[in-house]
Amino acid sequence: MSAGSLVLGIETSCDETAAAVVRGGREPLSSIVISQVNEHAAWGGVVPEIAGRGHLGALQPAVAQAMQQAGAAPADLAAVAVTMQPGLLGSLLVGATAAKALAWAWDKPLVAVDHIHAHVYAALLSLPKWEFPYIALVVSGGHTSLYRADDPLTLTRLGATRDDAAGEAFDKAAALLGLAYPGGPAIERAAAGGDPRAFPFKLPLLAADSLEFSFSGLKTALLYTLVGPGNRRDAPWRVPRARLADLCASFEHAIAETLARKALRAAAQHGVPRILVGGGVACNRRLRALLAEQAERAGCEVHFAEPAHCTDNAVMVAGLGHALLAAGRIAPLDADVAARAE
Ligand code: KG4
Ligand code: ZN
Repeated sequence: MSAGSLVLGIETSCDETAAAVVRGGREPLSSIVISQVNEHAAWGGVVPEIAGRGHLGALQPAVAQAMQQAGAAPADLAAVAVTMQPGLLGSLLVGATAAKALAWAWDKPLVAVDHIHAHVYAALLSLPKWEFPYIALVVSGGHTSLYRADDPLTLTRLGATRDDAAGEAFDKAAALLGLAYPGGPAIERAAAGGDPRAFPFKLPLLAADSLEFSFSGLKTALLYTLVGPGNRRDAPWRVPRARLADLCASFEHAIAETLARKALRAAAQHGVPRILVGGGVACNRRLRALLAEQAERAGCEVHFAEPAHCTDNAVMVAGLGHALLAAGRIAPLDADVAARAE
């Protein structure tokens, strides 16, 4: 396989249907993301049944556009890479089945990609030169985990959330407040100009040496703040605009501060002064600013995935697929999908 070889990536693990063609594992030639946000917004979260059906309709056009925009013909491809775990089973099956069919019809190797590892790879893509090891923080709607990365394929999990993921906490908090779905961007917008110290939410699991997370208590703390004197008892609560900004800024601050401190704690514990951050929540500007500032004080580098590569996309799948292919890690055509990472 030459360094310039093209890999088609396919991503359908949650509610984004994505396809991309990447050259040499680093250079995106196309990236198509068809979002189902509008279909799920009315429910305040992803409905698995709707997500699976949505991929069925969107995947073929996404692949056709990705190939066309890249100016690629099937014969130009070195492999077809697809997310096989973790995620919603019905959604994963659509992408995996399509990728197997294409790999078989085009006589190309199939490469099975782990979605969380791909989020780490997305952060590596923001760096011109790699200097392993790194501490990697993946923060999304489904996952909040810390890893030690010794190369793009060797990731050791150091800690994860015991309950809600950080993005899930944002989404649930937004639903309580009657804000739009997805909740992270909605809370970030509502927090503009707010005082992040107005509501001092207790930061979860900070006392111990632990690299685990817990965000469900924060959501309950927000609920109790809302069910105070003068508030109705049924959600969503209508909070006066000035108070809403303070509340959202404080909630956002509590999550960002927790993530930043734990990432730096992992860096210190492992003597690795380089941090990668990926996943949808890595778009959050308060997290980016806070972690960058704290890392600088600690003499630590921090590299975030580009915003377009933070949320689910297929560039990260094709990129990591290229690295797996180079290592000879080809999947059989009867490979299975898995809801959880092994
Ligand atoms: O990585 P992603 O697209 O999907 C998963 O693999 O889960 O992440 C989606 C999550 C959602 O929970 C969304 O609310 C959150 O990322 N998110 C944000 C922001 N943009 C997306 N959270 C905080 N601030 C943002 N700007
Ligand atoms: Zn994701």
